[in-house]
Amino acid sequence: MVSFKELGLVNTREMFAKAIKGGYAIPAFNFNNMEQLQAIIKAAAETKSPVILQVSKGARNYANQTLLRYMAQGAVEYAKELGWEHPQICLHLDHGDSFELCKSCVDFGFSSVMIDASSLPYEENIALTKKVVEYAHQYDVTVEAELGVLAGVEDEVSSAVSHYTKPEEVVDFATRTGCDSLAISIGTSHGAYKFTPEQCTRDPKTGRLVPPPLAFDVLDAIMEQLPGFPIVLHGSSSVPQEYVDMINKYGGKLPDAVGIPEEQLRKAAASAVCKINIDSDSRLAFTAAVRKVFAEKPGEFDPRKYCGPARDLMEELYKHKIINVLGSNGKAE
Ligand code: G3H
Ligand code: 13P
Ligand code: ZN
Repeated sequence: MVSFKELGLVNTREMFAKAIKGGYAIPAFNFNNMEQLQAIIKAAAETKSPVILQVSKGARNYANQTLLRYMAQGAVEYAKELGWEHPQICLHLDHGDSFELCKSCVDFGFSSVMIDASSLPYEENIALTKKVVEYAHQYDVTVEAELGVLAGVEDEVSSAVSHYTKPEEVVDFATRTGCDSLAISIGTSHGAYKFTPEQCTRDPKTGRLVPPPLAFDVLDAIMEQLPGFPIVLHGSSSVPQEYVDMINKYGGKLPDAVGIPEEQLRKAAASAVCKINIDSDSRLAFTAAVRKVFAEKPGEFDPRKYCGPARDLMEELYKHKIINVLGSNGKAE
């Protein structure tokens, strides 16, 4: 058993309370490799932003759970080395799909876990979430749960259509499970194709797809039911068109990729939404930078020469999110 406290990590309790009060949101960035982690920590240290490092089940399988945990521990030390005196870094399991996986993460030094039982019938979601909460809370590990189903693919849970969270269920769910935060469905979805072209309109000037707005009425109704309760938004990448264009220019093929417009995320961040999940944007930045090097320097074969520019572009992206979208800069001095 390794406590997250020994690793210098923090859980989400205090960061969420402050974020709700302050009208900003904490960035939750997924990582699978060293370059992503370096970029996240550099961006957070430079902007003094609390940050959530997210590890999915797939990331654990890809990178090895022990290595990831030591990387997170190393990240705390790296942050201090960069001059961030009191780093507020949370290590979080993203989309945990079983009690065993959540328990293993709690036992291995994670400071927060998500149990995503949103695809189960309501009562089963409650029962599984409650079981995880009871275990995690013994070690002061915070728990995110999910109610409602996002469109698209959630790890191995797939759903063709989005089922918005039902505001009339949230009080019962939060009370009976004891969860610390609640991921909701209001129209976001995972990946780089959040909406079909049919769901969008087109900007007549640029020809770009303009996605439909998020269901802020549903968010408002949820906040009315659960005043001050931490709300989480998954699937919140914006799919920056400059990265999509770079990828397509340098040999990639991402037609009609579309994300959540930043102004909508800004609006969400100012509310009780206190954690915003971003993974795809980082994947796009990484891929765009690597493709550019490959296209311009076909003789290059030193991974540092293409992973380095990828890391730089991701750092720029993370800083932009922190400062211009979530507003979490300067909140962890
Ligand atoms: O919500 C899913 C995250 O983007 C993680 O994706 O399961 O491919 O690591 P992954
Ligand atoms: P994106 O695919 O929009 O980056 O969402 C990531 C996410 O929700 C991770 O849980
Ligand atoms: Zn997610």
